Amino acid sequence: MAGLGQWGPNLLRNLGENPSVSVAALCDRDPARLAKFRDQHPAARLCADLADLANDPQIDAIVVATPAGLHAEHARLLLNAGKDVLVEKPLAMTLREASELVALARSRGRILMTGHTFLFNAAVRRVREEIRQGTLGPLRFISAQRLSLGQVRSDCNALWNLAPHDISILLHWLGETPVSVTARGITFDPRQQQEDIVLCQLEFPSRVLASVHVGWLNPVKVRAMTLVGAKRMLVYDDVDSTRPLTLYDRGLQEVETTAPEGSLERFRFAVRPGPEEQLAVEWREPLAAEVDHFVQCIRRREEPIGSGAEALRVISVLEACQESLRHGGKPVIPAAV
Ligand SMILES: NC(=O)c1ccc[n+]([C@@H]2O[C@H](COP(=O)([O-])OP(=O)(O)OC[C@H]3O[C@@H](n4cnc5c(N)ncnc54)[C@H](O)[C@@H]3O)[C@@H](O)[C@H]2O)c1
Repeated sequence: MAGLGQWGPNLLRNLGENPSVSVAALCDRDPARLAKFRDQHPAARLCADLADLANDPQIDAIVVATPAGLHAEHARLLLNAGKDVLVEKPLAMTLREASELVALARSRGRILMTGHTFLFNAAVRRVREEIRQGTLGPLRFISAQRLSLGQVRSDCNALWNLAPHDISILLHWLGETPVSVTARGITFDPRQQQEDIVLCQLEFPSRVLASVHVGWLNPVKVRAMTLVGAKRMLVYDDVDSTRPLTLYDRGLQEVETTAPEGSLERFRFAVRPGPEEQLAVEWREPLAAEVDHFVQCIRRREEPIGSGAEALRVISVLEACQESLRHGGKPVIPAAV
């Protein structure tokens, strides 16, 4: 396990609890972080350099939770050493680097998985089922908000830190990639380089419009996605673990008019009120499912959920949003991958 900062310990806990995993080594360049987890894994070797993991023949696979800007370098090192790798999102900070990693993993016959944790979230998966079953009718609009006060990061902006989650969820739900994106952002202090708040709009081939609002400059924590379908609406609230999914049998309905056919007045819509219902979700910690899936894919040599190829699609959208941000919100077509 490499990278024991804020997030790595969550992965480490799940690795430790997985009966198929033996944690052979802990790696972090900060000795204080290693010392903190030494007692929980007394059999694990401690090291400060990922090259030590790469060169260890006892190690089959490595989970990487180092800062985003180092993912590509670290994944490359480990894949070249013949290891299977689960690397935190985003897989890399450019599409070019991510494509090289995917090609490297293929050529070396290695498993490359990206930590798109929400693909293992039971609520996210239930929403996908509902979309597939047509519960919502044809989708029109999805809004995603991933906001809180902090953690302020200096290694990447709010887009690259937070939006990988929303984008991976949207691609998973819709089964398609956007044809056009726009993004605007703000920095708390104009002297800063990295945006603290980013607002993106993604237009999909099916004409679904999605808005993704991410940032670490919001007074309260919000992790919500609202899906507006022609028949029903659904709210996924990741903060409310007791009621994560609410289905609303509400919307708009056409009102009969006597206006002549073809005239604008002919089409009138009014609110259609209706009941709401909590959808059941069989809860399992997403990270436990993610770690378990990584282990199964290593054993069976199967392409994982959150594969390098899936990560490429997410990064092509992120890169297009970044390009739009750079140019004041101009529409950008994500690169085909
Ligand atoms: N999947 C999720 O839901 C989720 C949630 C939070 C964070 N993350 C991802 O996890 C990664 C880590 O995030 P974090 O919040 O823990 O960051 P962090 O800065 O708190 O931790 C990074 C750790 O990596 C160590 N490190 C840095 N350079 C290193 C190197 N060259 N060799 C070895 N160790 C090194 C640091 O000492 C630190 O302990 C990020 O990429 C982030 O995007 C994922």
